Amino acid sequence: MEDHARLEEAVAEIAADMAQRTDRGAVASYIPELARVDPNQFGICVVTNDGKVVAGGDADVPFSIQSVSKVFTLTLALGLVGDTLWKRVGREPSGNAFNSIVQLEHENGVPRNPFINAGAIAVTDAVLGHHQPRETLGEILRFIRHLADDEAITIDQTVARSETENGFRNAALANFMRAHGVIDNAVDHVLGVYFHHCALTMTCRQLAMAARFLANGGRHPTAGHSVVSSERARRINAIMLTCGHYDGSGEFAFRVGLPGKSGVGGGIMAIVPGKASIAVWSPGLDKVGNSRLGSQAMERLAKTMGWSIF
Ligand code: DON
Repeated sequence: MEDHARLEEAVAEIAADMAQRTDRGAVASYIPELARVDPNQFGICVVTNDGKVVAGGDADVPFSIQSVSKVFTLTLALGLVGDTLWKRVGREPSGNAFNSIVQLEHENGVPRNPFINAGAIAVTDAVLGHHQPRETLGEILRFIRHLADDEAITIDQTVARSETENGFRNAALANFMRAHGVIDNAVDHVLGVYFHHCALTMTCRQLAMAARFLANGGRHPTAGHSVVSSERARRINAIMLTCGHYDGSGEFAFRVGLPGKSGVGGGIMAIVPGKASIAVWSPGLDKVGNSRLGSQAMERLAKTMGWSIF
């Protein structure tokens, strides 16, 4: 198919070009374990809805998916508690940094959206429900392995510990929300699950595979069943478009025109509804905490392939 040939060419060109680049941004340093990652890496993988997998560069090198995991916990939480989730978390872009505290105080402890840290912590509390942290983590891991059709996906305990020992801002956010009754469970249980799902380690290939259901109207393409309804898939994609890159979400929509979710590990997952899922990774970040080369690669790929939701 002509499109497959064009896609293979585009991915190969982007991977070759990104390997040469020196302006890579800075790796995240507030989680000490992430500061140790070699910035000279770039991976890309695209999975089309007809099952073609096109990978380039370091597509098989595992990295810390960090905030990209928030898409999967949001999906799980909606499955568990349905639209009542929206009582404790909003759906508006925040216009603030991902770890900002300031808005919470003005808005009664209700986070703006499920992707800023406060919102993702509230979502994690919903996933935890009345279960033990260990069971909940097992459930999250099983879900992601199922989505990606890959049993090898794991959580990096060293990254989880590194963040646990340094996650003072997240502890502040969680305690503030607990004081407002926005989260129900013990703060250390909620943060324990949150830090561990952020410490999921995946390759671009695994991440693009795990995202397939969002490009497929909610259906798991190989298992054949619906992970979520098509309406819910559309809504998750809408929140990724408006909030997935924090205060860089407008810029990503402007440049790329696709729903996407970034993480401070340098990963970005994006969806071309009805067509493909994409994962890119490069550890160096721009000033709002999104992968610098990753964003540029997404822009180039979307332009070359004519992929945009607009
Ligand atoms: O809570 C944190 O700060 C990290 N575990 C995740 C933040 C993140 O990935 C923000 N994304 N750009």
